Amino acid sequence: MSSQIDHLLTENRRFAPSPEFAANAIGTAELYAQADADREAFWAEQARSLHWHTPFTEVLDWSNPPFAQWFTDGELNVAYNCLDRHVEAGNGDRVALLWEGEPGDERRITYAELTDEVKRAANVLEGLGVGHGDRVAIYMPMIPEAVAAMLAVARIGAIHSVIFGGFSADSLRSRIDDAGAKVVITADGGYRKGRVSPLKPAVDQALGDRGAGPQETVEHVLVVKRTGNEVSWDDDRDIWWHDAVPAASADHEARPFPAENPLFILYTSGTTGKPKGILHTSGGYLTQAAFTNKVVHDIHPESDVFWCTADIGWITGHSYVTYGPLANGATQVLYEGTPDTPHPGRWWELVEKYRVTILYTAPTAIRSFMKLGRAIPKKFDLSSLRLLGSVGEPINPEAWMWYRKIIGNKTAPIVDTWWQTETGAIMVSALPGVTETKPGSAQVPLPGIAIDVVDDDGNRVGNGNGGLLVITKPWPSMLRGIWGDPERFVETYWEKFQKQGYYFAGDGARLDEDGDVWFLGRVDDVMNVSGHRLSTTEIESALVGNEAVAEAAVVGASDETTGQAVVSFVIIKESYLAAHDPEGLAAQLRSWVGEQIGAIARPRDVYIVGELPKTRSGKIMRRLLRDVAEGREVGDTTTLADTAVMSIISAQVK
Ligand code: WTA
Repeated sequence: MSSQIDHLLTENRRFAPSPEFAANAIGTAELYAQADADREAFWAEQARSLHWHTPFTEVLDWSNPPFAQWFTDGELNVAYNCLDRHVEAGNGDRVALLWEGEPGDERRITYAELTDEVKRAANVLEGLGVGHGDRVAIYMPMIPEAVAAMLAVARIGAIHSVIFGGFSADSLRSRIDDAGAKVVITADGGYRKGRVSPLKPAVDQALGDRGAGPQETVEHVLVVKRTGNEVSWDDDRDIWWHDAVPAASADHEARPFPAENPLFILYTSGTTGKPKGILHTSGGYLTQAAFTNKVVHDIHPESDVFWCTADIGWITGHSYVTYGPLANGATQVLYEGTPDTPHPGRWWELVEKYRVTILYTAPTAIRSFMKLGRAIPKKFDLSSLRLLGSVGEPINPEAWMWYRKIIGNKTAPIVDTWWQTETGAIMVSALPGVTETKPGSAQVPLPGIAIDVVDDDGNRVGNGNGGLLVITKPWPSMLRGIWGDPERFVETYWEKFQKQGYYFAGDGARLDEDGDVWFLGRVDDVMNVSGHRLSTTEIESALVGNEAVAEAAVVGASDETTGQAVVSFVIIKESYLAAHDPEGLAAQLRSWVGEQIGAIARPRDVYIVGELPKTRSGKIMRRLLRDVAEGREVGDTTTLADTAVMSIISAQVK
């Protein structure tokens, strides 16, 4: 990390927005002044750009920290805000989704059509007995029905839990159980890398033999036919979307729900083996998702074509595919597949074809395009792009410069946006028409957001120093808790700086001489691989769940393309070691983790070692393993129970 910091600190390039961009930008410098003058009034004003069935009179109730309530006596319907109100305002013919499947099939869906589909789907869900507060799991490819499903659940005041389609049946099952989902919405499969990736079979497996597990809560599975792969069918439980939804009535009244009505649960990795169900509610979440999309992505709904490349299985897909852009009435591209199928220029072909004006993606994607070379994007006309965004992990200055030059035609501003599943929406970012940007820095808190960088005791470190990122005041789209575990919520985020009442984000950060923020990665056992959060402990428990493994330790090692990579060190049981060759075992364990958690968690390297470095109290010293994984000289080993262990491990790894 230290070489990275040194490198960042020598970065002194600056890019001001062009006068034309600044003149037309929605986010202006006045916003900061307004928010500084009266933070709550500022957020109230943003909230009022939504439609409230019952206007709120109270902005923030922070009487029981850390449990915040925003706009608490107001009532709204989230789906109405994303759909009906645009149709009622005369924009029903505007395209909401420019969808493209991986094989090249296309659909253009207007706001009127999407509203119609969501109303029908809402009627179907209600017909299946789903009501206010019930949980619905969504396990789908990136197809329009996925967005429609989320909105249909929101429309009836139920709670969705979207589970990324790349997760395994096991991961799906534990999330369905934790939330007690009543219905699962899925598809037969989706297209990924030119093949059908089956989804319904994974749902069947998750809902299959439960052994001694908790009782089944799922009553129905609603299935979109996408790929036509063979699926097994349970007549009592399973329903085809294409049978039920078109046949349902297109009349559905969007009833108002309280601002604090839960909207969704989204599972994310923490520092323990068990994923946390992050809970978000309605009014505050939608306010900040819409506001940030408007001012950070500079959305002009009548002229822009926005494309956020995230999957709806992640928070970025929730806030900047479904809720933010649709609340703003924007037109956006939705793409089912991978960036390199059927050819490595696929994304740029889509930018050209749909005249995308704003692209929002992750540094890992940019770095892999960079590796392939500029010749590929140069084959396409990318002149429509006027703004670029980055999210999910720190973006290194080289990738930032490449993004600007090669994709952004040397003119498009880049907004590097820092936020988390927990924060619900962007927190730290440049405003594209205001901020002079610096390659590699996320820079400044948005208007209405209060952050700081502090030391371990909560003291401000001041400009020129590094420390821990904290959020010092509640914000509208903040998580309201962890599903079913209020204690873990308090413990994970609020205990560390209890005295000051700060939210602890888990990220290291540094303030430069101008007070701009540079993010330095996680300070806990959470890894960030290709912008996806993974827990070291979760992968370790998957590994030790394999019968060949006696012990396992996992670290995130820096990786040129993916930011970090999963590197695991395992001790194999004697009996297995004798009977199997190590390479075969390593390969087996890689796929094992893929089956247990999902392909994204598969270790890049599996090192079979004889011992793990432990302190006298038995704690694994991951820091030392990270040194080995990154090919560095091993650091201070004096606190190890057996100081010779590291040289043995280093030798085994080579
Ligand atoms: C990291 C994704 C540096 C950070 C929206 C955070 C970033 C975690 C940035 C949250 C950024 C996200 N610069 N680091 N612009 N954006 N991160 O919950 O470590 O999937 O804590 O939310 O990603 O990941 P999550």
